Amino acid sequence: MSKKYHITTFGCQMNEHDSEKLAGMLENMGYIEGLTPEDSDVIILNTCSVRENADMRFFGNLGHLKHIKKAKPDVTISVCGCMMQQEHIGETIQKKYPFVDIVFGTHNIHEFPKLLIDSLSNRNICINVWNEEGEIVENLPVKRKFETKAFINIMYGCNNFCTYCIVPYTRGRERSRKAEDILCEIKELVKMGTKEVMLLGQNVNSYGKTLEEKIDFADLLYRINEVEGLERIRFMTSHPKDLSDKLVQVFKECQKVCNHIHLPVQSGSTRILKQMNRQYTKEQYLLLVEKLRNASPDIAISTDIIVGFPGETEEDFLETLDLVKQVRYDSAFTFIYSPRKGTPAESYVDNIDAETKHKWFDALVKELNDISREKNLLYKDKIVEVLIEGSSKTDDLKLSGRTTTNKLVNFNGEGKEGDIVRVEITKAKTFSLEGQMLY
Ligand code: 5AD
Ligand code: SF4
Repeated sequence: MSKKYHITTFGCQMNEHDSEKLAGMLENMGYIEGLTPEDSDVIILNTCSVRENADMRFFGNLGHLKHIKKAKPDVTISVCGCMMQQEHIGETIQKKYPFVDIVFGTHNIHEFPKLLIDSLSNRNICINVWNEEGEIVENLPVKRKFETKAFINIMYGCNNFCTYCIVPYTRGRERSRKAEDILCEIKELVKMGTKEVMLLGQNVNSYGKTLEEKIDFADLLYRINEVEGLERIRFMTSHPKDLSDKLVQVFKECQKVCNHIHLPVQSGSTRILKQMNRQYTKEQYLLLVEKLRNASPDIAISTDIIVGFPGETEEDFLETLDLVKQVRYDSAFTFIYSPRKGTPAESYVDNIDAETKHKWFDALVKELNDISREKNLLYKDKIVEVLIEGSSKTDDLKLSGRTTTNKLVNFNGEGKEGDIVRVEITKAKTFSLEGQMLY
């Protein structure tokens, strides 16, 4: 009987995609996917360290694995991902969680098969975390979670050092994949039925800077737009400071590039943006939004916002609220600032009490949700194109998919994953739309 594996992934799409590579390597070794950790022989926790609650969820999960290891000592428990790149986490695991078999980081996931074989033969704890990024490793096997939409790394790491952010320390310096490798991967995927690609990078707008070939992100999009059989191109994340006029133009000229951009603003206060080292002002950000809407009037814009950055005042918070009202985002991820060990902001004086932070957070979420609902209402009675992603989680509706503007649509109709169909919107909610397919 085949041995089984189970991977729990915390955090962003970059981590999701790393887990797809780990699954690919395990399947190449003959393992099959187990339904639960209890049911599996190799258990992996792929961690995130971007905020404190991700740390806490990881340690909660790890504590639970202790019982599995006790009941089944032959199980191999591995932990990897961003948290492992932080020295103090490795030390805590060794001291408090001695039942862990393998620890590795973000830079050497390609070594996992070797680490697993070593661990199975000698059963000593195996810690192998690279402090620095190595060469990009191409052609790792990938077991993709979705058939019709695929994650593609176009670059790794980040050089921006926003003062609150741990990512430059856990993912290393920025480096881009060669365009020909990216295009080759996409063409292969399209042959297998992929309709949509999501290009991943911490700052896709600075793609190409580390390459010999003279190419930037806009050039890459023009080239991917030519791939026959591919229907949709999405990307994340875009840093506003690197969003060029050439890239704005792409939304007008590349018909496969979806009409949506995720453009994290983090704060609407220029003073706080400076302390965050974001390298743009509120006015510059608003100008970018104007340029994007001039190029593509219906473009959907989403964002990330942090509330309660050290030293933030009521005045700063009102600047954020004002920016939100001016931009009118389609959707947003909101976070309460969480100090991260080793980042510059960790030592900034945080004099805002928890009650104020929560009050601001709630007010911001309310404003964002009101706007999302109003924007979704504009879709009512309209006909949209939806790429079917699977069955709907809503009881009385059968299918689910997304518009080019990234709106989730649950609808009734007949179709299969990957089809692009026309849907008439009958109901608008805050986070999704409902409708009926047209034939
Ligand atoms: N505290 C709160 N939010 C954070 N983010 C990154 N670091 C922190 C932190 N220390 C948020 C940012 C980023 C998103 C992925 O997570 O908004 O864009
Ligand atoms: Fe973190 Fe800033 Fe890099 Fe994004 S751009 S990963 S927020 S340092």
